[in-house]
Amino acid sequence: MVTDDPVKLMKQAVGRAAAARVESNTVVGLGTGSTTAYAIQALGNRLAKGELQNVVGVPTSFGAEVLAKEYGIPLTTLDAVDGIAIAIDGADEVDPQKNLIKGGGAAHTREKVVDCLADLFIVVVDGGKLVDKLGSKFLLPVEVIPMALSPVMRALAKLGGQPELRMGVKKAGPVVTDQGNLVIDVKFESIDNPGELEKTINNIPGVLENGLFVGVADIVLVGELQNGQPLIREL
Ligand code: A5P
Repeated sequence: MVTDDPVKLMKQAVGRAAAARVESNTVVGLGTGSTTAYAIQALGNRLAKGELQNVVGVPTSFGAEVLAKEYGIPLTTLDAVDGIAIAIDGADEVDPQKNLIKGGGAAHTREKVVDCLADLFIVVVDGGKLVDKLGSKFLLPVEVIPMALSPVMRALAKLGGQPELRMGVKKAGPVVTDQGNLVIDVKFESIDNPGELEKTINNIPGVLENGLFVGVADIVLVGELQNGQPLIREL
């Protein structure tokens, strides 16, 4: 994955920086998305070079699983391990309190399970993901079981949101998650209390999980460009 696209350069640098923090003999949560893909690649390279030994990954999606296999990272499941030492995952928005919106890749349900279990959860983003308030740019993804789609849409509208069913690209019909569910993207004018909204939405019958990650991130690594060179800073 050699590139001179500036956004890709930032993603690559931040992915590598996160992979550099992984130690031998650990279980690592492998996030989903284009930024984490660089971390997975870098982790695989470190294993191949012998810099790291005995690292096993828990993937957060079918996509992460495919990448991990491609880069030679042994995989395990949550049934087979007692915990996760470190999880590396991307985000769609990050606020100054390190709260996140995730789910742009429809993987937020498994991501929340894995990221919340990790002793250390490192978020990897490029500078364009930083916002003063969550929901400023990105719609909030909500995973819903198919038979509850209509009532959940109505309940989300009652909460002041504008819900829309996420449709597939290069696939007819809606996006279907790794669990066989649907995703509703919701526009909220202002998310004033992300923690409260996270719980309220998850309390709607038929909702599996929403993309608000409140108080979960330990470290946010931000990739930025300075004079054309990628620079990593910690939020
Ligand atoms: C997957 O569902 C998401 O939560 C991703 O982690 C998020 O969309 C970030 O992806 P990118 O790194 O591709 O922007």
